[in-house]
Amino acid sequence: DRLDNSLLVIFGGTGDLARRKLYPALFNLFVDGFLPPALGVIAVGRRGFTRDSFRQEILLPSLETFSRRAASMDAYFEPFATRLHYFRTDIYDPEGYTRLEQFLVELEEAGGSRGNRIFYLAVAPEHFGPVIRSLKETGLVPARGWQRVVIEKPFGHDLPSATELNRQLREAFSEEEIYRIDHYLGKEMIQNIMVIRFANTFFEPVWNNKYIDHVQITSAETVGVENRGGYYDRAGALRDMVQNHLLQLVTLVAMEPPASLATEAIRDEKVKVLRSLKPLDAAAVSKNAIRGQYGAGEIDGQMVPPYRQEKEVAPDSTTETFVALKLFIDNFRWAGVPFYLRTGKRLPLKVTEIILQFKSLPDILYFKEYGELRPNLLVIRVQPLEGVYVQLNAKRPGNNNYIVPIRLDFCQNCEVGVNSPEAYERLLYDVMRGDPTLFTRWDEVEAAWKFVDPISAAWAAQGQPQFPNYAAGQWGPPAAQRLLICDARRWWEEN
Ligand code: BG6
Repeated sequence: DRLDNSLLVIFGGTGDLARRKLYPALFNLFVDGFLPPALGVIAVGRRGFTRDSFRQEILLPSLETFSRRAASMDAYFEPFATRLHYFRTDIYDPEGYTRLEQFLVELEEAGGSRGNRIFYLAVAPEHFGPVIRSLKETGLVPARGWQRVVIEKPFGHDLPSATELNRQLREAFSEEEIYRIDHYLGKEMIQNIMVIRFANTFFEPVWNNKYIDHVQITSAETVGVENRGGYYDRAGALRDMVQNHLLQLVTLVAMEPPASLATEAIRDEKVKVLRSLKPLDAAAVSKNAIRGQYGAGEIDGQMVPPYRQEKEVAPDSTTETFVALKLFIDNFRWAGVPFYLRTGKRLPLKVTEIILQFKSLPDILYFKEYGELRPNLLVIRVQPLEGVYVQLNAKRPGNNNYIVPIRLDFCQNCEVGVNSPEAYERLLYDVMRGDPTLFTRWDEVEAAWKFVDPISAAWAAQGQPQFPNYAAGQWGPPAAQRLLICDARRWWEEN
């Protein structure tokens, strides 16, 4: 892969995603010397900014607030800002695309972007299809050089809508040109999973159902739905987090070693995991798929309102803001090993981590008289702490035989000076150099919906859930705890 020059057109150029993630990521890449020298960025928006007012009102505050390189603003803001252009149009105005084409051609003639074009769809999902169609109809694609399209989640609402969206995309772009974002794949520790697994003799031999008792994956947030009630109330936690981020984590934990590190070799192994997921029928959904919705409660010492009173949320909404799932991967490596997943809004902590609990040794020695023997755990901390640790049992120092759990702990971002790049930096960089490894291929999206759709359908058939069923600030409804307690297990919470 090469870092070619190109023009990067951002639809939704004044929106939340662009301001919070894309401009800060581009700026950080710029400061660190990772942007191609002639990259031009075109922010497309409906509002009437001039290049200068866009700079002052959108770009500057975005970088000041969200960039981890904000301290470098004095030196780098000016040269960075000259790369950015603002282009005003309504994305439903065909004439706007014709003008945009002229504008891109002018920039291409003036600069060194060689006719390469990246289109980034940072707009609401209902606009994806129409924008793609207009790009094609008004001749913005095919580009004179190479072309790529970056598409944000959600990729559809279920399998039929995802299939339709994919069909529309494929009319203008080939599969290799489509970069489907799952920003979890850009996170440092998630990229680290394969390294930990396949570069350490310690782990690979025991990474299977002979030694692993179960896997827990938690992605918890303290925030509510913020300003996204309109979207979220139609999606819910299952579609918003499980279909994409959590199942992607499952694939990375469970996949077989790929034949090489080539993009398609890795994706081939990931999709096999998704295809091996044991489907949940209605009976299994009742037992193993727990949903919850938060009521009022306390987060960080502050009372917060119930989900049903959030902006743009129906007052009698039955949308889930919490999901806990027990799933199985029906293949030789994992048969019989439960994977417990949970995610939710308004939980006690912001934390994402993956825990592998190993099977316990036979309980026949004298240890238990000297303290509780804890299972061995391998914990991969994704955020906010980044690192990995192993929990072992060891003797407490002194003239006794007490056994205590100890940790071999590597904390990547505890060290002063470690400031990991953000997910979007890595992902944008990979789009520019044409490496789609950290993006989801269509068959992965498809297999994930095939697993998730029956759960939504079973929930819909169950009728009205008793919501709210957990107070903000709790770890979801009691049923989420019971899911593990019934299996004589527990969530490892207080890590
Ligand atoms: C997004 C979801 O994909 O991920 C949001 O749509 C969620 O609802 C977010 O808040 C969580 O991302 P992160 O990086 O903060 O774990």
